[in-house]
Amino acid sequence: LDKISRTIWQVCHVKQTLKKRERFGHKGTYGHVLLIGGSVDMPGAIQLSARGALKSGAGLVSVMTEQAARPFLQLPHEVMYRSHDELTPQLLSNYQAIAVGMGFGLTDEKLALFYQILKTEVPLLIDADGLTLLARDISRLKERQGPTILTPHPKEFARLTGFSVDVIKNDPFTLTKAFAQEHGVYLVLKGTHTIISSPRGEQVINTTGNSALSKGGSGDILSGIACVRIMQDETVLAGLCNAVYLHGYASDIAVREDFTAFDITPTDVVDSLSKAYRTFI
Ligand code: APR
Ligand code: MG
Repeated sequence: LDKISRTIWQVCHVKQTLKKRERFGHKGTYGHVLLIGGSVDMPGAIQLSARGALKSGAGLVSVMTEQAARPFLQLPHEVMYRSHDELTPQLLSNYQAIAVGMGFGLTDEKLALFYQILKTEVPLLIDADGLTLLARDISRLKERQGPTILTPHPKEFARLTGFSVDVIKNDPFTLTKAFAQEHGVYLVLKGTHTIISSPRGEQVINTTGNSALSKGGSGDILSGIACVRIMQDETVLAGLCNAVYLHGYASDIAVREDFTAFDITPTDVVDSLSKAYRTFI
């Protein structure tokens, strides 16, 4: 029975595990997120992540890009900026969660930077270009000291495992569970029904979300939300499940009340997070 025990994440789970806003809280209570990515060619992704993090209750949000990309960024006033040149182990240890990969780029320089980032003990979420860089040498995951979260879509998971997308779609539960346990990571296989697996073999299925999310940028927003939720919520697993749930739920509310799945943009989904969070206060 243990082999097939899986949870469908529901309202009651979010209510139980979502961190409450405290009357005597301060920004330190809610954690400082660092989002690393963004390049001259792709400056948008990291901005969407920053918006996702800001609209999810982070105490502080910082974005780190290559210096040359800075002129292309329009960061919200609340977001602090760092350049890749500043990256040191000491600097990374100042944050409570780090995400890497959104619009990061795939050059040798980025690969070297990525390997440096893997050394941090801070909880680390790897997405998009970060996953492509990781696929070059997945054994690097052995070096990880702190919690590691991978958020691939099926094609990215195919790149990490060598399985075809068809094979993955045929038996996603078995493959994701085995991967998470073997590599000691939290794995979020994104799709219509996202599957979240823990290194201990727990598995959760999400049922919120709709085709409004099938647009470039949706995944970047999730990375920002997820960083905040893993810092704050009861456990890393619960935080990831809450992030996936709220991301999908925000899009469900948005297409029900304000938009259609045609015209909605990922930015609109972020704005709709307000209504999603309101359900749980
Ligand atoms: N129903 C529910 N959720 C959906 C649906 C759907 N029909 N379609 C997409 N989603 C959700 C996924 O579960 C996931 O959370 O939207 C998000 C899409 O994330 P990604 O696939 O990562 O897409 P995104 O990052 O926005 O755009 C593609 O990923 O492959 C990289 O570098 C590539 O920049 C590109 C990017
Ligand atoms: Mg993506």
